[in-house]
Amino acid sequence: MKLWIVTVIVIVAVVIAGLVIWLSFKKSSSLNCTPWTMPSWSQSIAYGTYNRKGSRGTKLVSQALDAGFRIIDNAMCYGNEEEVGAIIRESKIPRGEMVLITKVPPSHIGRMEEKLATTAELYGTSYMDVYMLHDQPDHFEDTIAAWKRLLRLHDKGKVKLVGMTNVSQAILEKLGKATGKLPMIIENSLRSVEDLEGSLANFCKKYGIVRLYFGVTKERNLTHPNVVTYARSHNISPHCAILRIVQEAGAIPVVGSANERHIIDNWRCVYKGKQEQD
Ligand SMILES: NC(=O)c1ccc[n+]([C@@H]2O[C@H](COP(=O)([O-])OP(=O)(O)OC[C@H]3O[C@@H](n4cnc5c(N)ncnc54)[C@H](OP(=O)(O)O)[C@@H]3O)[C@@H](O)[C@H]2O)c1
Repeated sequence: MKLWIVTVIVIVAVVIAGLVIWLSFKKSSSLNCTPWTMPSWSQSIAYGTYNRKGSRGTKLVSQALDAGFRIIDNAMCYGNEEEVGAIIRESKIPRGEMVLITKVPPSHIGRMEEKLATTAELYGTSYMDVYMLHDQPDHFEDTIAAWKRLLRLHDKGKVKLVGMTNVSQAILEKLGKATGKLPMIIENSLRSVEDLEGSLANFCKKYGIVRLYFGVTKERNLTHPNVVTYARSHNISPHCAILRIVQEAGAIPVVGSANERHIIDNWRCVYKGKQEQD
């Protein structure tokens, strides 16, 4: 191919790439949403209660509280709110120290208010700290409708932070544009360590959106070169390294464990990491 043709193709490609970047920047910077003030607990660790059922499951939740965990991640579809709620009530930990999270599935959008009230009752509290839509409905109009209902619950003081799980930046932006208000918290899978500094992460930092990550202890993350290097240089396990990396990125790892030793180690790891940072 002649040199001038190649040159023209390269110039056109560069101009198109520049236009795409400029347009996407313009799109995200045109959001007229006030950033949220992040809560004091936005850089800690949460105990995940999926599958924590029966006497063994609830014992593990108690052990997590004894170890020091104060953020408890639950969801209506885990089917254990009654059991977990009883453990929280019996613990007698001051309400202000606890961060109680629950999620409502898209199938219950029509009864979100009622479901929240039931959950709060099971936990023996007048409000929940976090209420999120658990996954996205098939139609975006339903997501908007659910988001408006969540905002109303927040405005009534029934919940401190409202948000979405398994959500993309595109959906957050659409919600912000439709209602003028962005979710205050999200819970997503940590598909890669790179997610922690990616576009969605930066968007959340810019708008004060709390990030919860599950799936942090998956093999793909434990063997990531950054995690391996961090673990070696701090002389800690890869499990501890990934938890601290998430926390240092300004987010919260949500970890479930059925092993008391691991529960204690996970709490100590993040707590010690935070002390070192302070
Ligand atoms: N919003 C959503 O859609 C969504 C989806 C999935 C999960 N979640 C939440 O996230 C929580 C966590 O779920 P997950 O899928 O990330 O993981 P998980 O099912 O809780 O599994 C964590 C794994 O890591 C191991 N582990 C934890 N700490 C360890 C340590 N210090 N040393 C060695 N192994 C350790 C555990 O083994 P041991 O049991 O032996 O410790 C377990 O196999 C759930 O309970 C739930 O609350 C939310």
